[in-house]
Amino acid sequence: MAWSVKPSATTQIERRDEPWLNDDMKARYREIFLPRYAESMGALMPICHDVQHRYGWISPQAMEEIAAFLEIAPADVLDTVTFYEEFHTEPTGKVVIGVCQSITCEACGHQAILDHVRNRLGIEPHETSADGGFTLLAMECLGSCDTAPCALVNNRRYDNLTIEGIDRIIDDLSRT
Ligand code: FES
Repeated sequence: MAWSVKPSATTQIERRDEPWLNDDMKARYREIFLPRYAESMGALMPICHDVQHRYGWISPQAMEEIAAFLEIAPADVLDTVTFYEEFHTEPTGKVVIGVCQSITCEACGHQAILDHVRNRLGIEPHETSADGGFTLLAMECLGSCDTAPCALVNNRRYDNLTIEGIDRIIDDLSRT
């Protein structure tokens, strides 16, 4: 896949009036996270996790607010958020399906499962269905190579996956 270049310097950030990091969150970060680290940068990961778990994604405005809170460059927050698959820079669907694409799962048939999910849901990896129901991800090793192929679905790992198995999971979650 070719790199796609984004005009970051001129991109307009969508903003809302209500801050993403409210006073309670900041007070908690000051009390719990900051004292653990010699540098404020150390608290970046736990804060990103907290924002991600609270909202399901980390908006550009939230990244700026995190940077201002930690007195670091917004680019450092962006670098971190975009490096880790755990973090989402856009809202996700109700169900997030992450099919492992690392080497063991690749050798054990991940492509057939990924293709099946792509075709069934009509979305490519890192896209969300138009109804907001599903987001599909292609993820790196989920740490369970002995049970490949695997997928992480709404933060629960499913092992020894088959096409029938992923269909059952999608059917079940479509009903909830
Ligand atoms: S390669 Fe898929 S879990 Fe390790």
